[in-house]
Amino acid sequence: MEESMETKEAVPEGDSETRKTSIEKSAEKIKVRIENVNGWYGSKRAIKDVNLDIKEKSVTAFIGPSGCGKTTLLRCLNRMHEMTPGAHADGRVVLDGIDIYDKSIDPVVIRRRIGMVFQKPNPFPTMSIFDNVAAGLRLNGMRNKTIIREIVEESLKNAALWEEVKNQLEQPGMSLSGGQQQRLCIARALAMQPEVLLMDEPTSSLDPIGSSKIEELVRILKDSVTIIIVTHNMQQAARVSDFTAFMYLGDLIEYGLTNQIFMKPEKELTERYISGKFG
Ligand SMILES: Nc1ncnc2c1ncn2[C@@H]1O[C@H](COP(=O)(O)OP(=O)(O)OP(=O)(O)O)[C@@H](O)[C@H]1O
Ligand SMILES: [Mg+2]
Repeated sequence: MEESMETKEAVPEGDSETRKTSIEKSAEKIKVRIENVNGWYGSKRAIKDVNLDIKEKSVTAFIGPSGCGKTTLLRCLNRMHEMTPGAHADGRVVLDGIDIYDKSIDPVVIRRRIGMVFQKPNPFPTMSIFDNVAAGLRLNGMRNKTIIREIVEESLKNAALWEEVKNQLEQPGMSLSGGQQQRLCIARALAMQPEVLLMDEPTSSLDPIGSSKIEELVRILKDSVTIIIVTHNMQQAARVSDFTAFMYLGDLIEYGLTNQIFMKPEKELTERYISGKFG
């Protein structure tokens, strides 16, 4: 107690929040531990023995050439991979100390804790903006209209979409622009209050303004959510991520602080990829 008061006094006014965040970050709690994960399509192994620790409340970028397994690995992390017919994963994915592949674990609960945003915005086509965000809550049995309304508003605010849609919540989700639809999908994911958010090339179909809104959002969200983002855009990876994992042909080649990976990669393959020599 005394110690925390001392710490507080030493912090200039207004900086306590920043300081708290950096103290929390320095603890570097591991949120997701990926251990010897293989991802299979039938007998084809698309992900090979990947080991990686994802730090809590950080942004990790998965980069690598097309077909190297970024999406597959991402989908192994919330048990979406096994929903592809013929596909399965082995190894361990440990979320806060619990192996999500343990037989006792319900994958639906895992997908609630580890949300996902896809490359192509996919609002539920027949639903309004409001219902798109509320859908997951209702599916989980939430009936209290006031609470649903509150969560929908908060999620749309956190997805930086509220101001643009607050007067048209009953319009179809599909009536929004591509960038707005992607933020709607982010709001839909946030409504479930995920601890981890997986984003698979979330800006690949957006213009620069739409992309920068999503990037800004990622920077804000990481204060409360652990984020993994797949991107083909090296500048984007450098701008938004704290850590970067470079993959090639199903292998995790190199992982580290984003600055280090971009400025001084250890492997020649990484250096060739980030300098645009292939991929
Ligand atoms: N449904 C599927 N059935 C069989 N093989 C698949 C399937 N989906 C992906 N693969 C294969 O798994 C490997 C990894 O694909 P994945 O989609 O994970 O790559 P990626 O790094 O996300 O590529 P991109 O950058 O193009 O999105 C590729 O060889 C791909 O052909
Ligand atoms: Mg992909």
